[in-house]
Amino acid sequence: MVRRVCDDARMSEAFDAVDVIVTKRDRHELSDEQIRWVIDAYTRGVVADEQMSALGMAVLLNGMTRREIATWTQAMIASGERMDFSGLSRPTADKHSTGGVGDKITLPLAPLVAVFGVAVPQLSGRGLGHTGGTLDKLESISGWRASLSNAEMLAQLDDVGAVICAAGSGLAPADKKLYALRDVTGTVEAIPLIASSIMSKKIAEGTGALVLDVKVGSGAFMKTVDQARELARTMVALGTDAGVNTVALLTNMDVPLGLTAGNAVEVRESVEVLAGGGPPDVVELTVRLAQEMLQAAGRGGQDVAAALADGRAMDAWRRMIRAQGGDPDAPLPVARHTDQVRSPTDGVVTILDAYAVGLAAWRLGAGRARKEDPVQAGAGIELHVRPGAVVRAGEPLLTLHTDTPERFERARAALDGGIVIAPEGSRPDLLPLVIDRIDAGDAA
Ligand code: URA
Repeated sequence: MVRRVCDDARMSEAFDAVDVIVTKRDRHELSDEQIRWVIDAYTRGVVADEQMSALGMAVLLNGMTRREIATWTQAMIASGERMDFSGLSRPTADKHSTGGVGDKITLPLAPLVAVFGVAVPQLSGRGLGHTGGTLDKLESISGWRASLSNAEMLAQLDDVGAVICAAGSGLAPADKKLYALRDVTGTVEAIPLIASSIMSKKIAEGTGALVLDVKVGSGAFMKTVDQARELARTMVALGTDAGVNTVALLTNMDVPLGLTAGNAVEVRESVEVLAGGGPPDVVELTVRLAQEMLQAAGRGGQDVAAALADGRAMDAWRRMIRAQGGDPDAPLPVARHTDQVRSPTDGVVTILDAYAVGLAAWRLGAGRARKEDPVQAGAGIELHVRPGAVVRAGEPLLTLHTDTPERFERARAALDGGIVIAPEGSRPDLLPLVIDRIDAGDAA
């Protein structure tokens, strides 16, 4: 009986999932109709997880044309609601990072851009695996709330000019389902699927301008500059075609950003940047991304660094945190236990591997293995050195923080081979912090 109902339902469908899978498996282009149907039918539960997994793997292996990626992205947008900021009195600009270790840039960046009259609707996520999540970091601030209604978000954008919050479940629900499936079927790394996943959410969010920070290196999804450039070009083309003024920076993720990786430790460092201090690489990238966002929103040519030095960005941060129930003056959580990793020898730090540091921070409790897991607010890593530092035997390189000291051993194991001390006189071989910039002209 049940089976007949299912057969009847399938007969009323425009396509058959197996035909769509076989088309891509045999390296043919999917038609717009096939793509729209398969995304819609998967969201409705008519296409099964195992069928979508097979299609995802065929896409990973055989790729997609620009037209296929654009239609796939539009279909994912159409699976849910679209937000509308056209009623705001200021232009909007957003930033999206493809994810890295120690990447706390959103925290100082959103209030900094708001200082210059551009509204920042920053829908962010939680960490999974070795890369941290912006919401997990902010939740280490007492009282701060990640979930806002659309009306609350709009009111805060009008009043404060910046909001960092969780994306509502109505935005691109097809992507939510597909991303969870990709995570467990080895298909996260497909460039067409990453590009459509990120851009469907950003276009549905309704921002007028978008700056993409595409990370390259050991701590990023994209391990090579060529892969990152292809991803950046694809995303810039998708944004531009959808009427969003989109640019991308390719930035170095072979080394963690700044001197902290974790949750509360990264908030503390972000507050240092907002107070006019902080590590030079975090300041440089924050200022560069702010300049790009302001330019993309039609407000370029401002002295962005001055707003960090004179306290205007800090004022905007405090208002933004308070508007979401947080107390910007509350002490940040501190882990109950620390342990130090010391240099085994005299020499020069030539490698400080972002992936190793991210994995160690995760194992200390800063990240989660499953999306339901809690994170430890105080867990993480403080770096006392950067590549190029001259060190003596026994000098501290890192401090590990956790509430659960039995985690130290596995965290230390993650760091094995991740820190290289070469003989004095050696130099690290590093890519620059900002490697390249891709705009609509490069993506065409
Ligand atoms: N972030 C996303 O939102 N989607 C991806 O596919 C990868 C990173």
